[in-house]
Amino acid sequence: MIKESAIEQTLARIFDNIEFTAEPKGLYDPLRYMIGIGGKRIRPRLCLTTYGLYKDEFADGILDAAAALEVFHTFTLIHDDIMDKAPMRRGQATVWKKWEANTAILSGDVMDIDSYARLAKVAPSALPAALALFNATAAQVCEGQQYDMEFESCPKVEMADYMKMIGLKTGVLIACAAKMGAIVAGAPQKDADLLYKYGYDLGLAFQIADDYLDTFGDAKTFGKAIGGDILNDKKTWLLTKAMEKDADAVGRAMALPSGTPERDKAKIDAVTTVYRDLGIDEDAKYEILKYTQKAMEHAGAIGLTRVETEILARYADKLVGRTK
Ligand code: IPE
Ligand code: IPE
Ligand code: MG
Ligand code: MG
Ligand code: MG
Repeated sequence: MIKESAIEQTLARIFDNIEFTAEPKGLYDPLRYMIGIGGKRIRPRLCLTTYGLYKDEFADGILDAAAALEVFHTFTLIHDDIMDKAPMRRGQATVWKKWEANTAILSGDVMDIDSYARLAKVAPSALPAALALFNATAAQVCEGQQYDMEFESCPKVEMADYMKMIGLKTGVLIACAAKMGAIVAGAPQKDADLLYKYGYDLGLAFQIADDYLDTFGDAKTFGKAIGGDILNDKKTWLLTKAMEKDADAVGRAMALPSGTPERDKAKIDAVTTVYRDLGIDEDAKYEILKYTQKAMEHAGAIGLTRVETEILARYADKLVGRTK
């Protein structure tokens, strides 16, 4: 088993020392910028955590797999910020804002490629399964992002469709991270599959928490602009739930005009008030806990020791108890 403190030190070592090609700077500087700012690194942490349930030290190219997950995730964020017109990420200007959209597109593309080059370094015995999982996951993230965009112009989205969409855009990559550690460690197939389910349900909880924080979070801590989902007509968990409870009230608030700082603020305030009046904030917290518990049921079915199961429980608690 590998301790959580060793995982933290290893994560710092990977990302403090990660290298990208030097030239042309216009292509690679945005990568260095985004990785340099550093996010929460939940995906590589999860991959190292599940690997550490089966092994006593990091080997087999697991550090490269962990880096691949974070680089791929960061690539999706660079493109997501263009699609969502987001000005701020990780407390700093987004790549398309700091440079321009074309830079963000191409830097994102090369980052995607870079993630595969890193993944290719995992031990040959695990590589086919690792690659198949990563490929399937990457395509699913695109599918989820497509649904996310299409939903912007849908008047109403059913909760089941919302859950499917976030499962694709967010759930599968966290599931992939959990399973990747198991695959590279050579864990039994049954364990790897349960870890995938653990990661998937945690991913659902994580995206509902992200939707919650986009409206109810603190911009400074969250590192992103608050209310962006409302202005973009995103079919978030909050909006989908509010539509079930009182479609008229939330529909009126969402119909308010936007486009100037004053209008944007008035619209965000109005929608937030409706959410609070309907108790959507509390509903979301309940739902986040529900999916976290579901995740832990999968973890409990693996047959790990109590100490090992507690590692997965602590990871889950940290993930969903977040404010950023
Ligand atoms: C943001 O992911 C995108 C979502 C899936 C909600 P994170 O919240 O993991 O972003 P960083 O990497 O910590 O910045
Ligand atoms: C992001 O969902 C999912 C992916 C990037 C694949 P969001 O659009 O909600 O993520 P944030 O809030 O911008 O981080
Ligand atoms: Mg998005
Ligand atoms: Mg976004
Ligand atoms: Mg979001």
